[in-house]
Amino acid sequence: MREVIVSAPAESRPIWCVTRKSLPQADLPEPGRRFAESAGFEGAAGKHLLVPGADGMLAGVLFGLAEGGDPFAPGALPAILPAGTYRLEGALDNPRLAALGFALGAYRFARYRKTPERNVRLAVPAGIDADDLARTLAAVALVRDLINTPTNDLGPAEIEDAARALAAEHGAAVRVIRGEDLLAQNFPLIHAVGRASASAPRLIEITAGDQSLPKVTLVGKGVAFDTGGLDIKPSSAMLLMKKDMGGAASALGLAHLLLARGARVRLKVLIPAVENSISASAFRPGDVLASRKGLSVEVGNTDAEGRLVLADALTLACEEEPDLLIDFATLTGAARVALGPQLPAAFTADDALAADLARHAKAEADPLWRLPLWQPYASMLDSKIADTNNVSSGGLAGAITAALFLEKFAAPAGSWLHLDLFAWNASTRPGRPEGGEAQTIRALDALIAERYGAAR
Ligand code: BES
Ligand code: MN
Ligand code: ZN
Repeated sequence: MREVIVSAPAESRPIWCVTRKSLPQADLPEPGRRFAESAGFEGAAGKHLLVPGADGMLAGVLFGLAEGGDPFAPGALPAILPAGTYRLEGALDNPRLAALGFALGAYRFARYRKTPERNVRLAVPAGIDADDLARTLAAVALVRDLINTPTNDLGPAEIEDAARALAAEHGAAVRVIRGEDLLAQNFPLIHAVGRASASAPRLIEITAGDQSLPKVTLVGKGVAFDTGGLDIKPSSAMLLMKKDMGGAASALGLAHLLLARGARVRLKVLIPAVENSISASAFRPGDVLASRKGLSVEVGNTDAEGRLVLADALTLACEEEPDLLIDFATLTGAARVALGPQLPAAFTADDALAADLARHAKAEADPLWRLPLWQPYASMLDSKIADTNNVSSGGLAGAITAALFLEKFAAPAGSWLHLDLFAWNASTRPGRPEGGEAQTIRALDALIAERYGAAR
């Protein structure tokens, strides 16, 4: 990602942030004030005005904010300001999130088309931790880049490469179980879902930190592409399925945040990386698969592949009884129907965890919403011939029944949190450009820092 944040710039131009109410008190020079008045600038939310000085040169920028509005609002500015270094001033409720929003708004996915460098920079506001900001920017950019990269350049093998690169950067250990070895080492579900692809299925494991520290394990759905399998998706539903590894990207992004700040945890990241593809070796509707847990699983729908690969990974995760187990997955369309693209669905039986998470989500402007693990719906997963089906009959409460399926494999974890994400901005909002998005990782980083300690 382009460097948009500078710590100690020689000089910078002010961005006077105002609300309609605070505009009269804004701390701008008199000629600028007269200019704004004559130009009819009233401080309306999202509006900006380039303000000249007495010499006719750009002196600063007025920017309108809604009172109590989106803390990322300044994220609209990098795309519209002239080149230069700026600083945020004025009526900001949260200067840290304003600066973060600004910097995140400068993200571009430039792998395939070089866009001209715009050179809009922001001086880190006084009192804001520049390292923390840089870490967050790097993590979010990593997640976005991975999600935005199409499957021809980011299949299971390249997800492994990305995991190895991250581990190498932080001196973490990596183990990968690939192809037929998945069967030998008892990961039958990961193998079954991924075996039809030209790029072998694999389980990627990153481990870092002292064994004596609290164990935090992150599991990310790494479906490089989801055709639906033999229960093939219609083209409209398949179009965006390069993002079906958004959970894996999120787990890697949060791992970067934790490792870069030296979180006091023994971190494990588990990524089942597969392509849900179609070939003569594809798993079929009606197949009954074995699982690492020992439960037999009838395949009601090959398009419910994410929960299958997660099941084996969650089983492995629980074998060492982690203190906190979090899985990230673009798991169901039903979660999107329920909550829309901006709100990941969070499932946990741990009320204290849910409350802490909601608090951090709010403080970090990294929203999510809890849905219930409603046990009476568990019977919807019943199979007539196996221990469980992978889909529910009836198709109602699809996000909940998917979570209940995972729960069969995640128990007994100390604390288990399941996040059903969209991992995508359908349209551009300030600080959130259209395309891949990191959801929930900033909130979780704050939660883990609070629970287990911020740094080495
Ligand atoms: N990756 C999809 C879920 C998805 C679709 C997430 C669109 C975000 C946007 C998942 O593998 C899937 O296909 N789920 C099915 C489950 C169904 C077969 C029970 C779904 O949601 O339709
Ligand atoms: Mn699917
Ligand atoms: Zn999927």
